[in-house]
Amino acid sequence: MNSLSERFAKVRAEFPALEQKVNGRDLVYLDSAATTLKPRSVVERISHFYLYESSNVHRGAHYLSDKATQAFEQARAKVANFLNAPSAEEIIFVRGTTEAVNLVAQSYLLPLLKEGDEILITEMEHHANIVPWQMVAEKTKAQVKAIRVLDSGELDYHDFENKLGPQVKMVAITACSNTLGTFVDIERICRTAHQYGAKVFVDGAQWVAQSATDIQKMNCDFFAFSAHKIFGPFGFGALYGRRDLLEKMPPYQGGGSMISQVSIQKTTYNDIPFKFEAGTPHIEGAIGLHAAINFVESIGIDNIHQWDNELLKTATTKLSMIPGLEIIGQAPNKGAILSFNLKGAHHSDVSQILDKMGIAVRAGHHCTQPLMQRMGVTGTVRASFSIYNNHHDIEALDQGILKARELLL
Ligand code: ALA
Repeated sequence: MNSLSERFAKVRAEFPALEQKVNGRDLVYLDSAATTLKPRSVVERISHFYLYESSNVHRGAHYLSDKATQAFEQARAKVANFLNAPSAEEIIFVRGTTEAVNLVAQSYLLPLLKEGDEILITEMEHHANIVPWQMVAEKTKAQVKAIRVLDSGELDYHDFENKLGPQVKMVAITACSNTLGTFVDIERICRTAHQYGAKVFVDGAQWVAQSATDIQKMNCDFFAFSAHKIFGPFGFGALYGRRDLLEKMPPYQGGGSMISQVSIQKTTYNDIPFKFEAGTPHIEGAIGLHAAINFVESIGIDNIHQWDNELLKTATTKLSMIPGLEIIGQAPNKGAILSFNLKGAHHSDVSQILDKMGIAVRAGHHCTQPLMQRMGVTGTVRASFSIYNNHHDIEALDQGILKARELLL
């Protein structure tokens, strides 16, 4: 065992979900791109809040409400620090990445979009980073165009440069493809897009738990992620937006907290970030996310990156030796996501056999139908790795695929 293996064996012990059997076998969880498992410390922090601190934020004049408000705002400061965002006021709490895309599409882009304008996405975007832009494009007769993805799964940066122009108002792009694992050079994208006056929205959902995020270095205009993909709770996430843009944007939803003054005739709005947070927020979401970031920091995001990479490389080498197995997406710089197909077998059948062996993977189009069309497949089997996985899991996957091959071909 090398020192990294020993370290991550201890990390694994923090995830009680992995102590269970599924279909009589030890659970092998390889679906972290869909959601990560939750460590004890996160669940205990949320449980403690519900048992002892449960109270509403920003409104109460009593001890518990003050305590909840402090915890909520400390979580915002933690997120800002984790992303290296310039300030906590630029962090808007949302339901997740999907809500963040919708917020920016409706509140930032829609008011300024006009006929002939373009929104650039890529062929490997998740539906969440396609549909909200199509919705605003349809209303304004603007167009959504996609940057090509190469057969290797890499982004075609030349195609990106060719498609840029003053008509492009927004580049909406993933930092890590949920299906192929491809990492995108966001600094390069922002530098080039800004030369043409386009803004950049970064979908960081798959990125944040795998690689260090530095908003100021990326120099993006918007960045979003979901807590549940970084060992935190469901139904919660954060959107970073550049202060000057957020300040000019109209609110996304109306309600309590987002106001400054209300009369029957007129309402004036609160400052950022509260202008975008109508109603009682997902308080335990923020508190749980804070605990999740503490957990990540206690391991070190660079160590996580290194471990993920080791798992990915080992799995790629091992699976490449299986006859008839094709890996979809082999970009040189990618996260711990391995999409594949077994020639002659349907992806759903393969995943069902793996499930019978206690191995959890995702199969299908992974909410990336345009990418499936681009790659000429109807779906793939996707194994995604995280901090609690180890070399035994890779061995189990290898054995599972060999079994599927034996049964299906
Ligand atoms: N976006 C999640 C996935 O890729 C749900 O599975």
